[in-house]
Amino acid sequence: MAQTPKRRILITSALPYINGIKHLGNLAGSMLPADVFARFQRLRGHDVLYICATDEHGTPAELAAQQAGMDVRAYCDQQHDIQRAAGAGFDLSYDWFGRSSSPQNARLTQHFANALEARGLIEERISKQVYSHDDGRFLPDRYVEGTCPHCDYDKARGDQCDQCGRLLDPVDLKNPYSAVSGGTQIEIRDTAHLFLRQSELQDTLRDWVEGATDWPPLARSIALKWLDEGLRDRAITRDLHWGVPVIGPDGTPRPGFENKVFYVWFDAPIEYIAATEEWAEATGSDWQSWWRRDKGADDVEYVEFMGKDNVAFHTVSFPVTLLGSGEPWKTVDRLKAFNWVTWYGGKFSTSHRRGVFMDQALELLPSDYWRWYLMANAPEGSDAAFTWEGFQAAINSDLANVLGNFVNRITKYTASKFDGALPAEGTPGEDEAWIETEIRTRLSQLTAHYEAMEFRKAAAETRAIWAAGNEYLTRAAPWVKFKTDRAAAAVGVRTGLNLVALFARIAQPLIPATAARLLDALQIPDADRSWPDPDRFEGLDLLPEGHPISPPPVLFMKLEDATVADWSDQFGGAPAD
Ligand code: 2FM
Ligand code: ZN
Repeated sequence: MAQTPKRRILITSALPYINGIKHLGNLAGSMLPADVFARFQRLRGHDVLYICATDEHGTPAELAAQQAGMDVRAYCDQQHDIQRAAGAGFDLSYDWFGRSSSPQNARLTQHFANALEARGLIEERISKQVYSHDDGRFLPDRYVEGTCPHCDYDKARGDQCDQCGRLLDPVDLKNPYSAVSGGTQIEIRDTAHLFLRQSELQDTLRDWVEGATDWPPLARSIALKWLDEGLRDRAITRDLHWGVPVIGPDGTPRPGFENKVFYVWFDAPIEYIAATEEWAEATGSDWQSWWRRDKGADDVEYVEFMGKDNVAFHTVSFPVTLLGSGEPWKTVDRLKAFNWVTWYGGKFSTSHRRGVFMDQALELLPSDYWRWYLMANAPEGSDAAFTWEGFQAAINSDLANVLGNFVNRITKYTASKFDGALPAEGTPGEDEAWIETEIRTRLSQLTAHYEAMEFRKAAAETRAIWAAGNEYLTRAAPWVKFKTDRAAAAVGVRTGLNLVALFARIAQPLIPATAARLLDALQIPDADRSWPDPDRFEGLDLLPEGHPISPPPVLFMKLEDATVADWSDQFGGAPAD
């Protein structure tokens, strides 16, 4: 299609933690918009690589495995398959869904640590850690709980307090106890860890951040805030067994680190690269041309999607690893961060039956219903509350009514009055000129919103195009004209059917399964399913004369009040309920 030059676009979405299936808020804040963007860019004819993976290391994985009474690797195997299936159920079009526990990630993580060390950026330091006599082991991060030194919340986790949100150091907790055994025989002991000397990279990172032209203001201000406060050196190892072992440049375990592994936040972002390597090995492709600037990655546009809590890791920690290595790695060009989807303004919670998780959602309705609502209400700019009332209204109005009824009306009419074939008679007039101009203008806005990664606006514009089609049919009214002027009615029907084809093409990023059903029903070949280029809009004449038209089955069912009330009972609704 496009004469526009083919771009190479690398897309990653923040890696979901392995412990437990994700809720709709997690989906809406990284994986889903990344998928929508990937689909849009593929339809534009660009070369897209969309990479994601499960984030499998760290204390959350070990603790969850223990609670499930499973060996941690077997637990990760099981949970990875569950998350992969949920992703497939939501039509997330990953080119690869990898695992941070892969051998590729272990090798690459060790490679980065050794490259950083060779440049004098790693230092062994003795630090104080929580040791449990009851468990006979150190208790890093979430393995220890206690009272928050800032707000006195008595169930703060070692790495973070859930009440005041502050990041914590486990040794600062008051009244610490083991999250494993509950034991309180705790001692603060000295132990050696590797520290990444981030402070040495202050200037390098500042230059890089200041050179980043395509970041949203929020991401830039978060990165600059960290720089202004002065980058602090950080421990990149932990006293754990599950994780990437600390192997030196000679290929043997680093002395004194035999019982330690790299910190999960050190290896997780490296998995973006390692997962690309996993993909390349599985498909016989070249991963280096996507990541190494000396191997052709200079022309790659790298776009990252994440929740706002991940911004510092992606604008400071991961870039420090990449830049500090002194090797020519690709760094992020564009970054899209999201606020939270809340459940009626509060937190999703399994134990309090508040909120819908990905697997449950798919048991209620096909993925397109959720995809539409979540992107039409994407948490851009501020948090966005999920409400059953809002969900019902969006589905019934946008999908069932504005899109579904339009398709139904015009295809059924063609079947009954024009023998199920696209009519050829008649000459276009004023109404057709109006809708073509309307579409041309709106298509260009829609394309711009997608390019700018403004998903709410893209959904609103998509709906506006569907609504313009409805207005066209009201103006052209082929059913009225049919009685007196069959040729005039034929123009309306022909234009209406071409609008259906266009509606389906532009719906593909947001509601891919329904769009495909519609395009299949219209027998539109793959070559004609690409994104309609606003600069070369071909007009409403994609379908040839005589093209067979059979009405597709109902696209979306209306959500009844009783059904929604039922779901609200099951999964929680407005707090007053
Ligand atoms: O916050 C999270 O859910 C992390 N698992 C995200 C990791 S993103 C990347 F750096 F790996
Ligand atoms: Zn606190």
